Amino acid sequence: MSELDKLLASCLSEIADCDNLKKIDDVKNAIFGKNGKITNIMKKLRDLDDNEKRKFGAEINSIKDKIWEQLSSKSYKLEIKELDKKLSSEFADVSMPIYSPSFGKIHPLTKVSEEIYGILSSYGFTFAEGEDIESEYYNFTALNMPDHHPARTMHDTFYVNMPADDKGRKLLRTHTSPVQIHAMLANSPPCRFFSIGRVYRSDSDSTHTPMFNQIEGIIVEKNVGFSHLKWLITDFLKKLFEVKDLSVRLRPSFFPFTEPSAEVDVNYGIKNGKIVLGSGSKWLEICGCGAVHPNVLKYGNIDPTKYQGLAFGFGLDRLTSLKYGVPDLREYFESDDRWRNAFGFPHVIV
Ligand code: PHE
Repeated sequence: MSELDKLLASCLSEIADCDNLKKIDDVKNAIFGKNGKITNIMKKLRDLDDNEKRKFGAEINSIKDKIWEQLSSKSYKLEIKELDKKLSSEFADVSMPIYSPSFGKIHPLTKVSEEIYGILSSYGFTFAEGEDIESEYYNFTALNMPDHHPARTMHDTFYVNMPADDKGRKLLRTHTSPVQIHAMLANSPPCRFFSIGRVYRSDSDSTHTPMFNQIEGIIVEKNVGFSHLKWLITDFLKKLFEVKDLSVRLRPSFFPFTEPSAEVDVNYGIKNGKIVLGSGSKWLEICGCGAVHPNVLKYGNIDPTKYQGLAFGFGLDRLTSLKYGVPDLREYFESDDRWRNAFGFPHVIV
């Protein structure tokens, strides 16, 4: 038996004797490690001439292949054996409740905003972002609100302690209507925009909060009128509240930036102490709207002899309370986890 045959035989028998993975690892090291049997034999190659090197090298390689084959099949068998042992000794109680991480809940205002994005986009409206800090010019002047308008007083509006510029004093916008002006200035008609965002007024009780949310819509097109506006608002509300038979009533009203102006009411009744929209003969005010005043179109760089404008404004908090039955508006902004768990919506993981 040649030296290499002996080596092969001893390695194979060592492998065969292994009865756990730790031993296999030790044997592997004893053969192929730094001072391993094969490693040491390979060192001999250095002293051989080319011919012998070729012959000896080929023999060693074939031995190495055989050893590796045995090593890996033995480790595989031992791994399976150890896994079986583990599985038969361990017990998993599949009836135990799983740990379910909390992803929080979607705030009702976010939920309704998303529904509104969907509905208004389906009519071809594009979202226009507005800014919470506005200047007097965009919040009042360009919306045709005269200098003496009561909303301009410190009593009703939060002015911001920032330097005034050529557009007047800085303030927290009192409505989303300034977005109308920005949208008209940045785009040319025909166009349809909507915005959703926070507005601020110096007011606080169970139905008024100093900060609340509005939805604003504006259309500037040729040949549009009040009938389109009424259809649009009616269809929007039916879709939002998922009520087919909702009655909608327009009542003459006044806003400086629309002429004529109207307030929109929807019908409702009370069932089991809850408001049910679309059933009953009571009316609830839900929105302000109108044809954009020619002066406002001019401030938006639009020729009022060529184009008409239509605008509407809803209170998001009101719509949300009506849809999902949130009684006190102040709770929207208190960030109470218990409240959010009760009124919030689960995340849909797709
Ligand atoms: N900006 C008005 C408000 O805050 C609502 C409104 C918007 C009315 C657009 C008419 C047109 O009450």
